[in-house]
Amino acid sequence: MISLRRSGLLAVTLPGLLLLAACGSNPSADQTSTPTASAPADSAQTKSAAMPTSAPFGKTTDGTEVQLFTLANANGVRATITNYGGTLTSLLVPDKDGKMGDVILGFDNVSGYQSPEFLKAGPYFGALIGRYGNRIKGGKFSLEGKAYTLAKNNGPNTLHGGLKGFDKVVWQAEPGSATDGQSLKLTYVSKDGEEGYPGTLTVAVVYTLTADNALKIDYTATTDKATVLNLTNHAYFNLNHGAGKDVLNHEVTLPADRYTVVDATLIPTGELKPVKGTPFDFTTPHAIGERIAQVPGGYDHNWVLNTATGEHAAATVYDPATGRTLEVTTDQPGIQFYTGNFLDGTLKGKGGTVYGKHAGFCLETQHFPDSPNQPTFPSTELKPGATFHSVSTYKFGVRK
Ligand code: BGC
Repeated sequence: MISLRRSGLLAVTLPGLLLLAACGSNPSADQTSTPTASAPADSAQTKSAAMPTSAPFGKTTDGTEVQLFTLANANGVRATITNYGGTLTSLLVPDKDGKMGDVILGFDNVSGYQSPEFLKAGPYFGALIGRYGNRIKGGKFSLEGKAYTLAKNNGPNTLHGGLKGFDKVVWQAEPGSATDGQSLKLTYVSKDGEEGYPGTLTVAVVYTLTADNALKIDYTATTDKATVLNLTNHAYFNLNHGAGKDVLNHEVTLPADRYTVVDATLIPTGELKPVKGTPFDFTTPHAIGERIAQVPGGYDHNWVLNTATGEHAAATVYDPATGRTLEVTTDQPGIQFYTGNFLDGTLKGKGGTVYGKHAGFCLETQHFPDSPNQPTFPSTELKPGATFHSVSTYKFGVRK
């Protein structure tokens, strides 16, 4: 059974608990990488209130208006999140000289996330992923003796929830302020049978920007029928975004002695292979580009974290050019390290930035791909009466 906790979320969602110190003034933003023009980056509201601010982010193709929320802390760090797909669209953090820069790949408005090119490429920039992150073989699985067929959207397989996953729905949004920082609670009810999955799944995701420059993502879900789930966030990071064309010089550490071997359609074979002596060994820091040529297609694999439960380290990243660091922690057993292999320069993002191959990397905390068909992998089943609860944290810092 996946990690369960029945009461963990309340602490971060009770409204009006505590107002934090007003967030700071506009940081000395790197002009090549300031957050979206539509973000109320410097509004009076942002300065005087401890609640996140919101601004229109455009209309979805079916005419629904969506919002962009800005979470800020006293250090001038800002995260913008839209309720379309629960998508993290920008994150402004300091470099070693205190200069702010946006480290997230994304678009200036919702139409960027709905353009035909974006949907064709399917990179899932910054989105919340569900009901099941990564692939399910043949779009099929059985649960409690019953066979289920899912919508296939990735060759023979189902990827990231299917044709209309949680990344393409409008979430209900509730800005808040908790003891540890400004927050945004997003909720979505996925119907029984949606994309082929059994059970009505009620999902709540709370993003919190903490005082120590971490973006915490807290996931809770309940169901009325046995189902499977694997929730994650698909942010692409580039710690030198605005200046760095790709992330090949970023140094990555993954505390994982094994990874899940995949077949030609990126479905795990079931083998957990030791990383020792291979280009998959990130147990000590290595630049992404150092051995990537030895991995056909680039990195797009699930690492088996040495610790599977409880809060544990999942990854650290260091960008020597800016001194920025990223530390990822989770309570999940795996992490998908994906190096933007399928980006090819056809997508133009914020401020016209062209996203070419390896323009960003993803660190998706998760259960292993295709777990519903792999009896030896940690279970992704959720039963009625149980509550799924999981927390992953992306903490930014600098090394001088
Ligand atoms: C998958 C990749 C996929 C990417 C964007 C990652 O999580 O592992 O294979 O191309 O998401 O869809």
